Amino acid sequence: MKVQLILNGDDLALSGGPRDSLFAVLQQRAGLFPERVCCEQGDCGRCHILLDGKEVPSCLIPFFQVREQEVVSPEGFQNTEEYRQFRALLEEEGLVHCTECTEVQIFHLFSFLEQFPQADAEECRLAIGEIPCRCGSKPVLERGARRWLASRPWPVVGREVPRGHH
Ligand code: FES
Ligand code: FES
Repeated sequence: MKVQLILNGDDLALSGGPRDSLFAVLQQRAGLFPERVCCEQGDCGRCHILLDGKEVPSCLIPFFQVREQEVVSPEGFQNTEEYRQFRALLEEEGLVHCTECTEVQIFHLFSFLEQFPQADAEECRLAIGEIPCRCGSKPVLERGARRWLASRPWPVVGREVPRGHH
């Protein structure tokens, strides 16, 4: 089965089976999420992508459902100016690179801040907590999130974090 989609800005067709998850196809056919240990059950956050602008776990999305949709993975996000600016800010706050999940954390946090620019400190902390991390990076991410939001144009028009987001 071939599915046409836009992946990190490229219009392409990927092949996969009718029971494959989007994650499986992206990993096996598009070379994304290399060697990453993932739960494939919606728990670890390490397979997150933007699907038509909304952050979702790709392991829970049936491949056949993404026909004609736009997919952005952490790898695609890393080619953007926003990524460079956000990462530079986190590095100023003391970001230490963890091969396993730093890029996943940055992608998840940035997606959250874009979707909820009015998030308060507690909401940012909860969002950061959604991706498991034992290396002590969370305070860095929390400081970075506060600084990023404070640097945004004001007044910010954005949605409130809905109940049950976390
Ligand atoms: S692989 Fe863990 S949430 Fe998808
Ligand atoms: S960022 Fe990887 S364990 Fe914390």
